[in-house]
Amino acid sequence: MELTAWVNGRFLPLAQATVHIEDRGFQFADSVYEVIACLGGVFVDLEAHLTRLARSCEAISLPLPMPLTELDALVREAYARNPFTDATIYIQITRGVAPRSHVVPANPSPTLVVTVRQLVPPPRDELVNGADVISLPDIRWQRCDIKSTALLGTVLGRLEVQRRGIDEAFWLDTHGHVLEGCSTNVFALIAGRLVTHPLDTHVLGGITRDMAIRLAGEHGITVEERPWKLDEPGLTECMMTSTTTAVIPVTHVDGRAIGDGRPGDFTLALRGWMLDEFDTMRRQETA
Ligand code: PDD
Repeated sequence: MELTAWVNGRFLPLAQATVHIEDRGFQFADSVYEVIACLGGVFVDLEAHLTRLARSCEAISLPLPMPLTELDALVREAYARNPFTDATIYIQITRGVAPRSHVVPANPSPTLVVTVRQLVPPPRDELVNGADVISLPDIRWQRCDIKSTALLGTVLGRLEVQRRGIDEAFWLDTHGHVLEGCSTNVFALIAGRLVTHPLDTHVLGGITRDMAIRLAGEHGITVEERPWKLDEPGLTECMMTSTTTAVIPVTHVDGRAIGDGRPGDFTLALRGWMLDEFDTMRRQETA
């Protein structure tokens, strides 16, 4: 089956799905996006993703191109028109086409794009041995809570990661607190408590982060949303979360082992709880 994308009001074969060269998404990264997982026909937290998309649009004063109920139906149709069982659905909304000018158009006609790709499982090595990560000073902008396509800081982080042949980079604030990864939220187990940076303008409010916090709470683990550092006493485990990977153990940061350098028991349990939750969603869908 040929891949199909939605672009500005219609489904087209992916190769023909194009956007104008004067689109403000292309010229200014004047644009927001979402990445949603669909596992065997079951969308993981679709409503939460669409709500976050609406928040991102609102934060940049961009009108939604259609109501969220229609967007929900569109995402489902895009999945159905493509050949993948487990898929990621990418939605991008830009401020549309306008002659290039720093003056923001008053009545934009937003561009809406939806594409569907195979959900690629995380590398086995990362699951078995844990991820190898570096920390970098945060060079990104001051509104990381908006899921913007202005990702050049992230690209520079990823280039460094690829140069070193490792798995991810964690952004640190000027005090050395771990904010988040290039495309992940980051957690540590410190003195038996699950710790992650609080939601503010320096981190994205990850949908998987929310699920991790909820599942930890349901299993009796205290969660603390507070600034934390990699050298905190009592830090025994580290992990990262995202839509495309669920939970990944982190076993080395800047060449130093976390705990005993093996994926931690809590991390593996959290990943297991999350995968169980996905299975439950699948069963409910097919019941
Ligand atoms: N990125 N932080 C950043 C900077 C991210 O880019 C992402 C996800 C996350 C995790 O958010 P969520 O749990 O909602 O996926 C945190 C997506 C997957 C991407 O850009 O492809």
